[in-house]
Amino acid sequence: MKIVVIGGTGLIGSKLVKKLREPEQEVVAASPASGVNSLTGEGLADALKGTSVVVDVTNSPSWEDAAVLKFFETSTRNLLDYEAAAGVGHHVALSVVGTERLLESGFFRAKLVQENLIKASSNSYSIVRATQFFEFVQKIADMSTEGNKVRLPPVLFQPMAADDVASAIGRIAISSPVNATVEIGGPEQFRLHELVRRDLAARKDPREVISDPHARYYGIQVSERALVPSDGARLGETRFEDWLRQSTKQLPKAGRQGA
Ligand SMILES: NC(=O)c1ccc[n+]([C@@H]2O[C@H](COP(=O)([O-])OP(=O)(O)OC[C@H]3O[C@@H](n4cnc5c(N)ncnc54)[C@H](OP(=O)(O)O)[C@@H]3O)[C@@H](O)[C@H]2O)c1
Repeated sequence: MKIVVIGGTGLIGSKLVKKLREPEQEVVAASPASGVNSLTGEGLADALKGTSVVVDVTNSPSWEDAAVLKFFETSTRNLLDYEAAAGVGHHVALSVVGTERLLESGFFRAKLVQENLIKASSNSYSIVRATQFFEFVQKIADMSTEGNKVRLPPVLFQPMAADDVASAIGRIAISSPVNATVEIGGPEQFRLHELVRRDLAARKDPREVISDPHARYYGIQVSERALVPSDGARLGETRFEDWLRQSTKQLPKAGRQGA
């Protein structure tokens, strides 16, 4: 079985490629560096020859509204068209839990366009919606930082390790298409500001985290349950504290400051 991972050099893509590599599976890590560009279509026809499964774990290099929409719309159309022409039997795409609740953001409007194109196509598919990655927590802090303060709404938050995201996508990629959306999330729920506070403290980052119901997440207002998956979600195993301990092990004694 040949599996092509579009965005195979990214955070999730590189972990996924490692997990999928088995003697009976040919796995291609595709990205612009290897001559495969989903936005322009360059290299797709060649890369998809003889392919059974395509996993799309790309992300847009720019999160500006028009750029991110152009990226996910054009890239998804290209992938679906080239896959149909090559006879690929399963399109797997990574999206985000709660996308339809976050449409004040251009990024999530673009992700919804991506999902809808897949659903409207004649390709067999599995859409995997994940909650935020543990690895993304520092970026959340950076986006909400003013001076030495990080203001965040105290909403529920159920993030997961990128490694668990890759494992879940890997299992879905080698199974039959579900032609539906599967949700995945972390094993525990937190309050967003508390988790960010724990992450920064473990990194000896001196920023103060403030719980503010009017603060924005990712530049938008979010409701209490906007970021958490529904009851049937498949949950990862890695607990935040264990991941944090591992990821801060190599820090120099003086710690590291965020953005
Ligand atoms: N961050 C979160 O917490 C979160 C939560 C749920 C879902 N997601 C979703 O997860 C997905 C992957 O995220 P990630 O953090 O793994 O992304 P990432 O680390 O930024 O990797 C993005 C990948 O896309 C590739 N790429 C960029 N432009 C491309 C193009 N024109 N053609 C082909 N490949 C291209 C990149 O290649 P280069 O190596 O050349 O840059 C890279 O391999 C995103 O769609 C995101 O929406 C994220």
